[in-house]
Amino acid sequence: MEENNITVHVQNPDGTLTSLEAPVDMGLSLMEYLKACEYDILATCGGMALCATCCVDVLEGEEKLKEMTDDEYAMLDTLPDLLPNSRLACQLQLSHDMDGLVVKLHGAG
Ligand code: FES
Repeated sequence: MEENNITVHVQNPDGTLTSLEAPVDMGLSLMEYLKACEYDILATCGGMALCATCCVDVLEGEEKLKEMTDDEYAMLDTLPDLLPNSRLACQLQLSHDMDGLVVKLHGAG
């Protein structure tokens, strides 16, 4: 692994994991990165914590993430099928702390 990359694993609907090498030095959010990897994320609000279409469920590494803001919590709370480990990917800026994170697109599989 290069110094400015971390590995993020995305669980596919069939339960397998896809491992992605994500850059931490470009100021990208997890949402922007997953979209760049052609994951099916609408992100209609463009990362403003206003649409919840970028929701992911964090399967491993949740404790390493920054605490959610009131805005993120308020938007997540509008989802009928919210899970305790759901987060808005647009509010998670890629950082070294997120190395090894395992996520699944909310509602996928
Ligand atoms: S992109 Fe809209 S809430 Fe994240």
